Amino acid sequence: MTHANPLLVEPSRPLPARIVIVGAGTIGPDIGYYLKAAIPDLTLHLVDVAQTPLDRAIQRFETYARKAVERGKLNKTQAEKITQRLYATFDYSVAQDADWAIEAATEDLELKRRIFARLETLMRPDAMLTSNTSSLPAERIFAELSSKHRATVTHFFAPAWRNPIVEVIRWSGADSRLIDDLNWIFCMTGKAPLVTADVPCFMLDRIFDNWCNDAGLLLDRASAAEIDTIAAEFVHAGPFFVLNLTNGNPIIVETNALQADEEGEHYRPAAVFRSVEKWRTVGPGKGVEATPETRALVRDRLLGILVSQSADILDRNIGAAADLELGCRLALAFKSGPLDLMRQLGDAEVHRIVERTGRERPGLPKPGRPLAHYQDFARHVLVDEIDNIKVITIRRPEALNALNDEVTDELLAAIRRFEGDPAVRGFVLTGYGPRAFSAGAEIGRFPSVLGAEAAAQYSRDCARLLAHIDAMDKPVIAALNGMALGGGLEVVLRCHSILAVRGAYLQFPEITLGIAPGLGGMVVPYRRWPKAARAFHDMLRRADRMSATTAHELGIVDEVADDIPSLMRAAVARVRGMSGHLVRPIDQPVPIEQPQPIKPIAANGQRLSAKVLRIIETAICDAAAAPTFSAALEIGYRAFAASACTAAAREGIDAFLQRRPPDFSKTG
Ligand code: COA
Repeated sequence: MTHANPLLVEPSRPLPARIVIVGAGTIGPDIGYYLKAAIPDLTLHLVDVAQTPLDRAIQRFETYARKAVERGKLNKTQAEKITQRLYATFDYSVAQDADWAIEAATEDLELKRRIFARLETLMRPDAMLTSNTSSLPAERIFAELSSKHRATVTHFFAPAWRNPIVEVIRWSGADSRLIDDLNWIFCMTGKAPLVTADVPCFMLDRIFDNWCNDAGLLLDRASAAEIDTIAAEFVHAGPFFVLNLTNGNPIIVETNALQADEEGEHYRPAAVFRSVEKWRTVGPGKGVEATPETRALVRDRLLGILVSQSADILDRNIGAAADLELGCRLALAFKSGPLDLMRQLGDAEVHRIVERTGRERPGLPKPGRPLAHYQDFARHVLVDEIDNIKVITIRRPEALNALNDEVTDELLAAIRRFEGDPAVRGFVLTGYGPRAFSAGAEIGRFPSVLGAEAAAQYSRDCARLLAHIDAMDKPVIAALNGMALGGGLEVVLRCHSILAVRGAYLQFPEITLGIAPGLGGMVVPYRRWPKAARAFHDMLRRADRMSATTAHELGIVDEVADDIPSLMRAAVARVRGMSGHLVRPIDQPVPIEQPQPIKPIAANGQRLSAKVLRIIETAICDAAAAPTFSAALEIGYRAFAASACTAAAREGIDAFLQRRPPDFSKTG
């Protein structure tokens, strides 16, 4: 059964060991690099009909690997592995023992059909076949295959080695196991797969292509530079700038003609795309003046396209609302998702824009439901059900599932929505992907709260979810699919049981940022596992990492699983066995081993702030001695606020945001 979190489905095959990519031109090598970086022992064959693209492709792997070493993202051994077991050839027979063939040739239906006809006869019956088209429906590409069940479209976005988004097309010919397996493979290898329906341009290119096409249609009213300048309110780079970068004009002609043939003349490509090669425009951060009338006209039309296409995607079930938002931000570089934009604009303004677009662009789809319906979804959490247990997944792949108030509000809303339902036995909380349960509170949000009262209130507000879990009668289990850091760990520590995959670890990195943990991190551990006090002192004062196995030995983690499918099975089984036996933090003073004085140096050798170290030590001792749990929590909130007002906090947070090591030598 398909789940929103791809890792909840047990895959029917292991990660691929041999892959063939047909087409070594533009995107093929980038897809290959992503796969080799994620699965280093993979054997990868690049197949093309000419030597030059093959040579360039191999060079590209070498360049990317060298740059990754220079940026510290790979060590030398990892970089060497990327160019090992990598082959370039004209010979399709390398596909014979491959587990997966990815076609990344030019957007030509007949060519793609010929490639798949050839691959189908060569490859094992269980091997997967996927096409990287951005627009051609799977039903057309695979119409003549005899083994359709193992074929679909997987649509990557540039640059495919880094862009986390990939669309996976669910179509009538494909086996649902294929879709589940592809989702699982993508998620395990660091991508965020988005499942879409099999319509021309799928989900995200319906937004992008029509956004570009309407920009083209507007050229009789505004220049390319004016349009890109006005578009910069919504995207990091305007449509013409992106079309220049990607040589995209012929693609808009093709994809919009496809949509026009299938869905109506209103999608017909602007004629200008056939005659212009490069646009005279401005890049991100630069702009040109436009009259207020031109500005209003272009802005309304661009917004009109976003509203029209988003509503159409949701009305026709082409994709899910949260996927649309995520994909627009991460794949297409929109500053907000289109549904968030609609929320910001307000209903009256959206109605006005819809009316105007309707007059200027008759035929384009309009929202088919009241606008409020389009806002009724969770943006950052996925909710699945297994055996009457709700599995809630934090999905923020762009920030290792870091938490902000919107995320914690959505977690709380998901729990509240189902906890009163007698059929629901409990909850499992987990993080999206194989790396992180959560990398902590979103650091980018900190600077705006660096005042004592505001910081203490921020802590209390963010802790609403945790206080709710404390009071629940149904179990909430944390399933650590990877690292649990800072605020993410503080959520975990409030859950009624903690399970972890073997490679997971627990850490409070706050002191390395010049702050104290703000959501009970200096309080709860001592009131649940007082005997492990010494280990918690080291975590809080030196940012020591605690492995899942050590946490298990100390009784903090109840079970360690070998892999994510076993973790999920164990978490579900634990909820079933737990009802009525929920642990609560101790509600009276707890005697703990006092922290011995240490130097302000982190486990990784980084110098720390002595002042913040003292704030943390004092809070640990005062909170342990506090008469009640809630009094102890309040001590924690105030200590966080005190740390947040230090010069060390400013330095630590600035350093993280500027991607440099902090210098606490002058901050005290
Ligand atoms: N808040 C906001 N963004 C975060 C984040 C956080 N807590 N943790 C990670 N991210 C973002 C990174 O900025 C990066 O974004 P980018 O791709 O736009 O640059 C992305 O997630 C991936 O992280 P990256 O640092 O590139 O991965 P890595 O493997 O090199 O390092 C960590 C992983 C966890 C060690 C590192 O991200 C980190 O130190 N994060 C902060 C952890 C922390 O201090 N949490 C406690 C906050 S209270």
